[in-house]
Amino acid sequence: MTISGKTLDLITSGFSEMTKLDIVIAPWLTMGNNNERLSPSQKHDLRILALELSLVHGNTKLLWDVTEEISQGYRDRIYYETLLSTAAYLSYMRLGTLVITHEMICVAHSVIKNYVESDGGAILLSLYTRIASYLNLQVVGYFERVPEHVFISGDWHQPWIDYTLDKDLKFGLETGLLVRENDGGQAYVSLTHKGKEVYESCKADLERCGYLKQREQLMRIAQFTNMDDYEHIMERAAPYLHDLRKSLIARSEIRPGMKVLELGCGTGALTLDDGLYKAVGYEGTVIATDPSIGMLTRAKKKQLQYDADNVQFHQGGAEQIPFADNTFDAVIGSLFLHFTDIPKAFEEIHRVTKPGGTFTTIYPLDFSKQEDFFIEWFEPVYKRGLASTSKAVFPKEHTVPEAAARYFDPFTCTPATLVFDTRNVEHVVRFMVQVGTMAELNDLPWQARNILFDELIARGHAVKEKYGEHALKLNQPEQWFHGTVRK
Ligand SMILES: C[S@@+](CC[C@H](N)C(=O)[O-])C[C@H]1O[C@@H](n2cnc3c(N)ncnc32)[C@H](O)[C@@H]1O
Repeated sequence: MTISGKTLDLITSGFSEMTKLDIVIAPWLTMGNNNERLSPSQKHDLRILALELSLVHGNTKLLWDVTEEISQGYRDRIYYETLLSTAAYLSYMRLGTLVITHEMICVAHSVIKNYVESDGGAILLSLYTRIASYLNLQVVGYFERVPEHVFISGDWHQPWIDYTLDKDLKFGLETGLLVRENDGGQAYVSLTHKGKEVYESCKADLERCGYLKQREQLMRIAQFTNMDDYEHIMERAAPYLHDLRKSLIARSEIRPGMKVLELGCGTGALTLDDGLYKAVGYEGTVIATDPSIGMLTRAKKKQLQYDADNVQFHQGGAEQIPFADNTFDAVIGSLFLHFTDIPKAFEEIHRVTKPGGTFTTIYPLDFSKQEDFFIEWFEPVYKRGLASTSKAVFPKEHTVPEAAARYFDPFTCTPATLVFDTRNVEHVVRFMVQVGTMAELNDLPWQARNILFDELIARGHAVKEKYGEHALKLNQPEQWFHGTVRK
């Protein structure tokens, strides 16, 4: 069940094509924040549409050898989940709503139908089964053994499903990836040696085709959307950020009359509270963007308290800026660059900035060498080797200058240090883990993240007791960037 290089290339190009068309296999996106996101009649419609796709593309073969033909029931499920998560994604990205709309269900159906018409669905189905194997084997491997009924319910690793995983279990047992054992009248499943190998190869394939990176980014944007108290957390951890943003505006040399783009604007602190809208004056404009609807909604609400008609908020990430080439005199943003795919973000910033325009920002650097209290607190994360892997979210000192050299001349990268007050343990853990500053934790099964989350909160309180709350100051290395676009 390993994938050959040629097949992986096919899946990789298929995945990239699907991403361009906004087709996503990201079913957790449909888990609401207590709000009902889908009505019973919409669910019914989705099931019919999924069935239709599944019947039309009935004989699809997976792109690698499996002992069993893919059943109609399994195909129905694949199309159902892909339709559902694509409709959720489109509603979010195109309409700015968390509620899944009928219109976007229709769009999702039409893009998926067109896409699978070309190859009968082989790539989509193959990718989905790889993702499902990754999730199923990951949870069993992580916990070493999982009660059979828990595995079947999906509660620990696929809590969004509204069906059971008994077919997945049967498949895992029949193909020798899983083994069942009884202990004290309770049935458990664990991984075989072959299961471990297949898990590793699934993970490597999903990493190489770009799926895991996409998953991390989509999860982060969803978490930011759910973070209603973002401003409250930041005000308590770093109240001086207002001065820092003012200093960012001063460094940018933005003048009245300019057309300015702000990236990663969050709740609008830089543009509104810290005065970017004043720096461009009435004759200038600020277009402030962020990929998270929740953040933008908070920013738009705040705009009502300001005399800031020269500001417009738009949804969008830095890797795909929704504006034409050479639109802006200057681009600016605070504390967002580390969340982006930096080379792609630079390419886009360069594209939308006029010749001679500037980009100014500040971002945190790699945090692998931290204070003792912090390392002790986050030891379970460090111990897993997660925070210090090459995948760590924060850029290293050389990352940004290397990416910038292609697009900016001259530019400067100047060191800085920000001190974060981490006394509020719950806030810090939420920020570090949920928003994905420790993004590698996204790679854990759902239940493991919940357990780790609680463990980190308990450890945080213990560390606070041991070191004293005034010692909980985190010195975070940062870099200022200021550059002129070369065209
Ligand atoms: C730490 S907050 C900073 C918000 C604001 N600039 C401030 O100074 O308070 C990071 C912001 O980056 C946004 N973000 C995450 N991924 C992004 C991406 N790929 N492109 C642009 N912004 C992104 C988040 O939604 C969030 O609002």
